[in-house]
Amino acid sequence: MIKKGIILAGGKGTRMSPLTKAVNKQLLPIYDKPLIFYPLSILMLSKIKDILIIVNKGQLDQYKKLLPNGENLGIKITYKEQDHPRGLPDAFILGEKFIGSDNVSLILGDNFFYGQSLSDTLKRCADLKNGAKVLLYKVNNPELFGVAKIDRKSKKIKALKEKPKKFISNQAVTGLYFFDNKVIKYAKNLKPSKRKELEIIDLLNKYKIKKKLSAEFLGRGGAWLDTGSIEDYYKTSAFVQAIENRQGLKIACLEEIALLNKWISKSQIMKQVKFYGNCEYSNYLKKIIKKSA
Ligand code: TTP
Repeated sequence: MIKKGIILAGGKGTRMSPLTKAVNKQLLPIYDKPLIFYPLSILMLSKIKDILIIVNKGQLDQYKKLLPNGENLGIKITYKEQDHPRGLPDAFILGEKFIGSDNVSLILGDNFFYGQSLSDTLKRCADLKNGAKVLLYKVNNPELFGVAKIDRKSKKIKALKEKPKKFISNQAVTGLYFFDNKVIKYAKNLKPSKRKELEIIDLLNKYKIKKKLSAEFLGRGGAWLDTGSIEDYYKTSAFVQAIENRQGLKIACLEEIALLNKWISKSQIMKQVKFYGNCEYSNYLKKIIKKSA
């Protein structure tokens, strides 16, 4: 069972400049809550309580105002600063002490997941004992993504390719990964690529070569959206708005997940209502308390 998770919430955010000049991308809103709530909710749905958030140097105070130490959510949040974006596998080098001798999950701070039976899929992923696991999603334009060719029966990955010019598969590797403890050693042995970053595909390949890389699928009933460009960012916001307003239920309400997981009590939710103040999110929290009374 994976008990530790890392959210990579730094990055340059170049594609979203000037929005990201003063504020980190993950602190910008996706409809009614900051983007960081969405990847954090995914780790919480995976029943992961011990979480490291990696942020850009100089942006720690902003994050701590929003998510101090996790106590209010029944989880433990620690932070680490990254002095510059050295690539996704840098998470395991910066997080070495946090990971210790455990297995670990990594989620990119700007990735959005939603869908029926997602919690079950996540639980299966978090069950990983050795090797590595990725979550795949069928896309229309595989040439824009890292893609994986799989053996459907064993769910093992046979080939991996970053932005393939020639079609090999339309299953994109999403920004949610599950690794055994060897990931620290493998990440440390990686060499930077031409763009001078450590590449996640190179890290995954280390597992693939040893036939230790397997996949779970986020089926067609699910959604995986990237919020990295302005266009995708607003599409994700519109998606959340449409679903929430139709159902009257919130996506990525952290307190609701914590209560369902029995990590916090109703009185702790009331404290959160005070913390957020008089707003629509607080009204939703009050409704949750009433419903579960
Ligand atoms: P990217 O999409 O690769 O980069 P970015 O968010 O900086 O955006 P842009 O390409 O527009 O400059 O990063 C994916 C996620 O991982 C994003 O949430 C930022 C985060 N990240 C880090 O925290 N540290 C890193 O070293 C890298 C490469 C990314």
